Amino acid sequence: MFDKLEKINQRPKPFEFYTAETLWTDEHISKQMLHYHLNEDVDLASRNRTFVDKSADWIMSHFKVGPGVRVGDFGCGPGLYTTRFAEAGAEVTGVDFSERSIRYAKDTAKEKGLKIDYVLQNYLEFSSDRRFDLITMIFCDFCPLSPEQRDRLLGIFRDHLADGGAVLMDVLTLNFFETTKENRSYEYAPEGGFWSPEAYYMFLSTFKYEPEKVILNKHTILEKSRIREIFNWLQCFSQDSLAAELEANELPISETYADVAGSPLKADSPQMAVVARRES
Ligand SMILES: C[S@@+](CC[C@H](N)C(=O)[O-])C[C@H]1O[C@@H](n2cnc3c(N)ncnc32)[C@H](O)[C@@H]1O
Repeated sequence: MFDKLEKINQRPKPFEFYTAETLWTDEHISKQMLHYHLNEDVDLASRNRTFVDKSADWIMSHFKVGPGVRVGDFGCGPGLYTTRFAEAGAEVTGVDFSERSIRYAKDTAKEKGLKIDYVLQNYLEFSSDRRFDLITMIFCDFCPLSPEQRDRLLGIFRDHLADGGAVLMDVLTLNFFETTKENRSYEYAPEGGFWSPEAYYMFLSTFKYEPEKVILNKHTILEKSRIREIFNWLQCFSQDSLAAELEANELPISETYADVAGSPLKADSPQMAVVARRES
């Protein structure tokens, strides 16, 4: 028992394990995630609906999303943004590895008579002869990736942007890092819950990695017949550290905001959004 608890509290090396696939595609967990995506009131899986509407409107007006504009939404989930972009007449591609979300997104497109190209794939492996005028990655989905994965993804963005095309993405800032505390807690779900339909204990260990500005939420889920570990990494960025990663992939930042609705960045913003343009 003591050894098990020691293991639960063990701090791995930054980005040592990548378990995003379990978090988003497990049969039971993905069902809970879809509920969160579609819950209009909470900022879980997707942001609340008032914000999604406001940010989709800002994106569409800022980037003139409409007929003839090609948009690629990476980590599109159930299509909250892709649906709105396609309704404005844009040519839209959505990429996500959650089969449940992509199924929901495709059903919505069918119901609304929209032509949206949904690709069920790990976006770290995306390769196509399509070129986009705008690539979006929304709700800090860049942050769980390791430095190597981020570099790879930015290379994919660069290679799939049309000349003069733009990337819009949001990330966690150093304010978020500073205000997060290391913590240990546990949850008992005798009737099952978010992590499993079976009874479970879930231990959450939050670790901070000071030099790297990385946070880890390590979930250890103990059921009668199995133990699973899910590692949710969160890389936090300064404007300079994000700019350096983008510039290394020939994507210089042209605009910086507090969010993907175009709000001005403040000194204490927990998140920031940037526009990076491919030099033509
Ligand atoms: C935080 S959610 C955001 C969803 C959407 N952008 C929104 O704001 O409504 C992240 C999404 O990225 C997807 N995702 C995470 N890692 C992925 C990967 N490596 N390849 C493809 N999709 C991924 C998840 O399935 C999930 O739908």
